[in-house]
Amino acid sequence: MYAPVGIIGAGPAGLLLSHLLHLQGIQSWVLEARSRDHVERRVRAGVLEQPTVDLLHEVGLGHRLAAEGLRHEGTRLRFAGTTHRIDFAELTGGRAVTVYGQQEVVKDLIAARLVAGATLLFDAPATATAGLDSARPSVRYTLDGTARTAECDFLVGADGFHGISRAAIPAHRLTVYERAYPYAWLGILARSSPAGDELIYARHDRGFALHSMRTPEITRQYLQVDPDDSVDAWPDDRIWAELEQRFAAPGFTLGRGPIMDKGITPMRGFVVEPLRYGRLFLAGDAAHIVPPTGAKGMNLAIADVRLLAHALGGFYADGREDLLDAYSETALRRVWRAEYFSWWMTSMLHRAPGGDAFGERLAYAQLEHVATSRAAATSLAENYVGLSADRPW
Ligand code: FAD
Ligand code: DHB
Repeated sequence: MYAPVGIIGAGPAGLLLSHLLHLQGIQSWVLEARSRDHVERRVRAGVLEQPTVDLLHEVGLGHRLAAEGLRHEGTRLRFAGTTHRIDFAELTGGRAVTVYGQQEVVKDLIAARLVAGATLLFDAPATATAGLDSARPSVRYTLDGTARTAECDFLVGADGFHGISRAAIPAHRLTVYERAYPYAWLGILARSSPAGDELIYARHDRGFALHSMRTPEITRQYLQVDPDDSVDAWPDDRIWAELEQRFAAPGFTLGRGPIMDKGITPMRGFVVEPLRYGRLFLAGDAAHIVPPTGAKGMNLAIADVRLLAHALGGFYADGREDLLDAYSETALRRVWRAEYFSWWMTSMLHRAPGGDAFGERLAYAQLEHVATSRAAATSLAENYVGLSADRPW
């Protein structure tokens, strides 16, 4: 099997890259370790920033997003028993985010790729790479119990944090930047009506909580828990009682309902540099992880492949190598801005285990500043809805 571009991983990054290349007449193959059903059901991100929404519309993927996505022009910050609204639209000249599940984006992408006759192989784990610094990289993969080889001119590692592509780069060619956060998120998907029409980010002495949603009947909510906590320790009643305490505010009631999905995710910051080795390019979670508080992970993955698709397009249309050469540095500028914003949101909203009283006071001082200063609120809003001023071309 050969195509000009080979892609490992059918998450948002790999699938969207394949679609963007197709729109430029560039063929690709995509290898995905898991089944189609698995990737379409995996409950993860939910907030699409404005540049992501704009891009999905531009490239013909906005139909269901427009019909089913929930446009949010603001969000709520709740702390010390009071609630403050950050008005994104007013602070950023009409920009907003859209709540639309990652697995819905993935379903839309898979449907579009299959209609176009793409080579998109599920249950096909990549096991090894070769020739990354040659003109014809290749990947070993397994399909139907048989080991096979796929070749390409350029290979893209879009296989998430636990994939094989980052590990295929010689360690001395990469610099790893990492920050462990002493928190994890317990996330639930529940059949219950959202308590309002916007997300609530709550800081409480018991820890952080986030009230989000997927539809007018389904909520997605998160609780800060210890990194070594287990879902077995969190029966449904305990989750609801904890959410009620952390969101408590005058006149506020939280509807309960059956919990359909429950999982714990550790929080980390992680970046490798550069995002390229020979003819291998890394994109999305394969190259960087942010803590989820800023809702940036999927949006960064999408921004990476937008840039990479443009660079590969320049190569195939005009023989340009400069855009490929610039990919890593350009993408990393946005990545580090998102790492900063995610760190800032995380430290402002989470309670440090062990009770750092000084840190607590600093976090509340910051929350109050955001709630009372237009400049501080604008900074939060423009980062949250997505910076397009830094659109890199
Ligand atoms: P992935 O989605 O991880 O896709 C990688 C794919 O590669 C997977 O399908 C995997 O099966 C496949 N793969 C791995 N190894 C191999 C192999 N060897 N061979 C073939 N295939 C392989 N982001 C946001 O923007 N907003 C949010 O609100 C948000 N909230 C989040 C909440 C939670 C609880 C979590 C866990 C994440 C959240 N994120 C959020 C982050 C977001 O989900 C990720 O950043 C996003 O999935 C990254 O996409 P990706 O395509 O790079 O990687
Ligand atoms: C969701 C996830 C996030 O990480 C976030 O900051 C906001 C919302 C969500 O899954 O809805």
